[in-house]
Amino acid sequence: MRKRVHIQDLQLGMYIVKLDGSWLKHPFWKSAFLLDKAEDLKTIKQSAITHVWIDTTKGKDIETAATITIAPSTTTTTATTTKNTKSSLTDELEAARETLALAKQATIEMFNDARMGNSISLDETGPLVDEISQSVARNPAAMLSLTRMKNKDDYTYLHSVAVCALMISLGKQLGYKGDMHALGMAGLLHDVGKMAIPDEVLNKPGKLTDEEFILIQSHPLRGWEILKESYGVDDIALDVCLHHHERVDGRGYPDRISGNELSLVARMGAVCDVYDAITSDRCYKKGWEPADALKKMAEWKDGHFDEAVFNAFVKTVGIYPTGTLVKLKSGRLGVVTEQSEKTLLKPKIKIFFSSSSNAPIPKKIIDLTRSQETIDSIEEPETWGFDRQHIMNLLIEA
Ligand SMILES: [Fe+2]
Ligand SMILES: [Fe+2]
Repeated sequence: MRKRVHIQDLQLGMYIVKLDGSWLKHPFWKSAFLLDKAEDLKTIKQSAITHVWIDTTKGKDIETAATITIAPSTTTTTATTTKNTKSSLTDELEAARETLALAKQATIEMFNDARMGNSISLDETGPLVDEISQSVARNPAAMLSLTRMKNKDDYTYLHSVAVCALMISLGKQLGYKGDMHALGMAGLLHDVGKMAIPDEVLNKPGKLTDEEFILIQSHPLRGWEILKESYGVDDIALDVCLHHHERVDGRGYPDRISGNELSLVARMGAVCDVYDAITSDRCYKKGWEPADALKKMAEWKDGHFDEAVFNAFVKTVGIYPTGTLVKLKSGRLGVVTEQSEKTLLKPKIKIFFSSSSNAPIPKKIIDLTRSQETIDSIEEPETWGFDRQHIMNLLIEA
């Protein structure tokens, strides 16, 4: 099997079949070879290459998840999460951006097949789900911050990638014992049924008529029908696709099932789906800031979400998720750059602006666990004249 591997995960004994990127950047004249020399490994890691393709039938496979925080799989399926080293947000953003671009493209192609009424193939997206899983293991905030940058045209595709990444992160938090790859794939596929809904209804800026509303609500079943006909789609993906709009009080759709009748994966899908949907800008409304979205979801939680799953989700993204703009007690504005392992209420903040003088200040990272500072409020970037790209740039800068 061919797999695309980040160079951070490259090891001696792997058989390289392709080096990504321009050949001008390649340190070798050959591109397919067994990586058995330490100096070759070092040369690749020092080069401009970020990813290589390996053939696991000819050399070592990427290491499996046994040594990281998730519980080992009890199924016979291949564990696809890897023993990744942690990356800084800045480092991971670069790798995540590349993976996201490939995943988005592969998802567009896969969903286009569904739109044409064809069954879909997981050949292209399968390896990318593994890459998303690896990126999430190295630093979950990178992929989750990038998938927020959606526009109305790529919403459905990036939402699918975001739910894929969220399902994997949440699975780790919950100590999910099943197949993590299947969990990610279920997230990626959950809204495939939207391809059966006309664009003018799906992206209608105004209020929907009753008929249009019913049409949109048919997407879980339409998706389930598409997936049922497609090769290699497992029960987890079918379940999440059909039941991600169910609620624990039985007031969701399409089957109005409730409580324990809803599988764990369906309950996970519901939380990940709503969080990403309400934090994204849509044609009819602006997305909420992640921290505000979590507050709202906490208010809705009874009846809507499974409490244990929701609580684990909050731990996954943090009460102040990375990328949140906050005002500190001192009046300084900053962006959350990293969660604290000790408390969700005291993340690391990169300060950059004074609200009292309404002017930039020297950028500095403050660790709230070691500071007298506290978070005063969550701020809308637009209120202060910043857009999401500006916030993203603050995260990217070392
Ligand atoms: Fe949906
Ligand atoms: Fe969705």
